[in-house]
Amino acid sequence: MVFEKEIAKRRTFGIISHPDAGKTTLTEKLLLFGGAIQEAGAVKSNKIKKSATSDFMEIERQRGISVATSVLAFNYKNKKINILDTPGHKDFAEDTFRTLTAVDSVIVVIDVAKGVEEQTEKLVAVCRMRKIPMIVFINKLDREGKDAFDLLDEVEQKLGLSVTPLSFPIGIGYDFKGIYNIYEKNINLFSGSNKQQVEATIAFDDISNPDLEKIIGESSANELREHLELVEGVYPEFDQSAYLSGELQPVFFGSALNNFGVRELLDCFIEIAPSPKAKMAEERLVNSNEEDFSGFVFKIHANMDPKHRDRLAFIKIVSGTFERNTPYLHVRLDKKLKFSSPNAFFAEKKAIVDVSYPGDIVGLHDTGNFKIGDTLTSGEKLHYRGIPSFSPEHFRYINNADPLKAKQLNKGIDQLMDEGVAQLFTLELNGRKVIGTVGALQYEVIQYRLEHEYGAKCTYENFPAHKACWVHPDEDNPEFQEFKRVKRKFLAKDKSGQLVFLADSAFSLQMTQQKYPAVQLRFTSEK
Ligand code: G4P
Repeated sequence: MVFEKEIAKRRTFGIISHPDAGKTTLTEKLLLFGGAIQEAGAVKSNKIKKSATSDFMEIERQRGISVATSVLAFNYKNKKINILDTPGHKDFAEDTFRTLTAVDSVIVVIDVAKGVEEQTEKLVAVCRMRKIPMIVFINKLDREGKDAFDLLDEVEQKLGLSVTPLSFPIGIGYDFKGIYNIYEKNINLFSGSNKQQVEATIAFDDISNPDLEKIIGESSANELREHLELVEGVYPEFDQSAYLSGELQPVFFGSALNNFGVRELLDCFIEIAPSPKAKMAEERLVNSNEEDFSGFVFKIHANMDPKHRDRLAFIKIVSGTFERNTPYLHVRLDKKLKFSSPNAFFAEKKAIVDVSYPGDIVGLHDTGNFKIGDTLTSGEKLHYRGIPSFSPEHFRYINNADPLKAKQLNKGIDQLMDEGVAQLFTLELNGRKVIGTVGALQYEVIQYRLEHEYGAKCTYENFPAHKACWVHPDEDNPEFQEFKRVKRKFLAKDKSGQLVFLADSAFSLQMTQQKYPAVQLRFTSEK
């Protein structure tokens, strides 16, 4: 009973947005409501500022901060809320994609003036594919921005969502007066102060009530009535099961900076958002309320303490309870491991915990046993799927710059790849190593970390590849044999031994697909 209650209490989610839309600010305001922090400014943004591209110390500093904010847990109205942080910087998009495998729902933040931006499109596309329940928060209503209906249209068209507003703004920017909460049927007046404004809520069941004029003035009252009529006519009624199956996305409006509309969002969120659900393993569907423990690694963070070279593997608990000092099966290594100091995360600190429940994230100290996607269980050989690798955008040869440190270099590359910093391809032809990354920034991070954590030096050399495609091996097929022979120069193995075709241009990729239609090429690899 206690176990089931604990599961029902959990809300594990991520906030996604294009950088600068207000993700950090919203996170901070949610923590304020949860009483997890006492003042604004306590949560540091983990974004790597544009100016920091070549400032290694800044990268290190930022990495340190992002560890502290990797998981932010707090209690609110008898719910245990776990916010999983997702890096906003596009060079770290793969990190975000992996984190999305560990969330049960997401909140999408959109800037009212900028509308739907590129990074939001990419992240929402992944959530849509995985049918993750999404709530949209349109932020910065205190600024001049797009018309609410235009914005809702844009969200539907560019993000491919089907929305229904659960709150609606009264005016915008200079004329912003407040919000009508369709879900709770009340009005929250905007005063522009940064205080929590719970007391400003006025219940308003019937919008035709003439008192509305007294509160927001005649023209705003008329406009609001018109808008709400339009909302009712155009958008479907909110339906929780449609939201939970990823078919309907409720929308809230507000201003995170002004702490406005955040309480409404949070109160609705804890009511409608899912508690941890069943998850598909390769072998079978695993229910969260099964007694036996299972979980998977979705993130590895190295170098928490610069004095020790240790890593923290983040495990999302899928089923059962995770208990301290209990042996669990590391399925890939087929080895039992036990953990004396599993960490749980709270707003600004981490602490050792004895028991954790489905939906929770535990951080396990790791000396190189884990890589992303590993499964831990009470004993069953389960493999959780769905940690994808995408084709990198950049490719470079990596060379050893200090022949005496070859061992250190190989170890460093190995471990950094396990952490998911980048992808390694070993060419079939000559065994040379190629590093593929999502953004150019990673090359600097790798070089810096190899030197500072492993004492190894490397140089890079351009490798002219356009895309990596995973090749489905079909040894009996003569066409596959022919492809392997002709394209030998462009073939490599990834870290898990899968065959990869490194196409040198979009044109050559297209020609290859035409010439060898029977050879199956994929642009993602699910490990
Ligand atoms: P991110 O994590 O999504 O990248 O965004 P972040 O919260 O850091 O917010 C980006 C900028 O937008 C910040 O300003 C923040 O203060 C501002 N902001 C967030 N919410 C609102 C809002 O509701 N209204 C208005 N007007 N601004 C908002 P900054 O100047 O870039 O940073 P800072 O110096 O304020 O930290």
